[in-house]
Amino acid sequence: MTRLVIAIDGPAASGKGTLARRLATHFNLPHLDTGLLYRATASALLDEGRPLDDVEAAVVAARGLSLTDFDDQRLRAREMGEAASVVAALPEVRAELIDLQRRFARNGEGAVLDGRDIGTVICPDASVKIFVTASAEKRAQRRALELARRGERADYQSILADVKKRDERDSARSVAPLKPAGDATTLDTSELDIEGAFRAALAIVEKARQ
Ligand code: CDP
Repeated sequence: MTRLVIAIDGPAASGKGTLARRLATHFNLPHLDTGLLYRATASALLDEGRPLDDVEAAVVAARGLSLTDFDDQRLRAREMGEAASVVAALPEVRAELIDLQRRFARNGEGAVLDGRDIGTVICPDASVKIFVTASAEKRAQRRALELARRGERADYQSILADVKKRDERDSARSVAPLKPAGDATTLDTSELDIEGAFRAALAIVEKARQ
């Protein structure tokens, strides 16, 4: 069978992570949540008490990452998403992380990667590219629920402000800005539940493989 590389991009809390995990399980492929790489880089800087725009330290932190030692719980905390989007705007950090991601995508039968620049920069030749979106309000609602479930503070208005600020920072940066690849299919999940979004994504993948 031909290799299957699925590239999933989209803004904060669009549901791309959940979709990517479901697709990976369905096709029995490894999944890489590339946001964790930027979160782990930011986390290393914060642990060392360094500012998030310390380029040299950020590059060293990015270089030292290993895909197997992520402390998910800590990295997924709300402030870490914010911090990640600051280090993710540094071109040197992005350059440092390219090889690791491409090696993951090249392995075995294929892979599912989710992030902001998978279809545009990391895997321009992916078999399928899906750009997942949802309105800022829906995304803020989902993130508030997710945080509340984990016992984190979850005030809807401030989360909505966060989501919008992150959209702006991720879209406006000069290197690898958040935007759909020319050959990506956009999937708007505003009115879809998890199952509905998965079905729609599956249809996109099946169509691309025909
Ligand atoms: O789930 P959520 O979108 O909140 O977070 P994430 O996917 O873990 O991404 C956190 C931040 O990392 C984003 O706001 C981006 O600035 C950055 N990121 C990126 O620049 N490129 C990627 N491929 C993945 C994440």
